Amino acid sequence: MRDSQRVSVLFVCLGNICRSPTADAVLGRKVEALGLQSRLLVDSAGTGDWHVGEPPDPRAQQHAARRGYDLSALRARQVAVEDFHRFDFILAMDRNNLAELERMRPRGHAGELGLFLRYGGDARALEVPDPYYGGEQGFEEVLDLIEEAADGLLAHIRRTRL
Ligand code: 4NP
Repeated sequence: MRDSQRVSVLFVCLGNICRSPTADAVLGRKVEALGLQSRLLVDSAGTGDWHVGEPPDPRAQQHAARRGYDLSALRARQVAVEDFHRFDFILAMDRNNLAELERMRPRGHAGELGLFLRYGGDARALEVPDPYYGGEQGFEEVLDLIEEAADGLLAHIRRTRL
């Protein structure tokens, strides 16, 4: 069931242990700072099931913690068809995950499904690169991209929905 009291956002990546939990925590903190928790619901999920039940990757936690975000309480889950009924915005970190979501999308779904970075400032960078098999710098890049797009998304939601 949709939470009719709140605008709801679901971030989706592949494993739900690096990018989407980071986006969840970043937008969540901005929502809290504005006192909008009762108006805006934020969650995250993965298209894959390999890490279900696990906390975010330790590298994602460490890099986020340096910027003041606490990811430790989050646990990975897999996206489900039911999510299309619950969330107003389903935002994918890259085109592969968006394609998977488009395959799952129920007929008649009226919510927004798209790439998260459409809300970022760089029209050329529309994907958050998967940092899982890369180095430490990848996690910093994930945070930079996500922080900027979260500001854009929040401004859009405040302008159009709140
Ligand atoms: P995420 O990163 O999609 O940002 O959570 C990944 C995490 C795990 C895997 C791939 C990407 N994996 O293949 O297990």
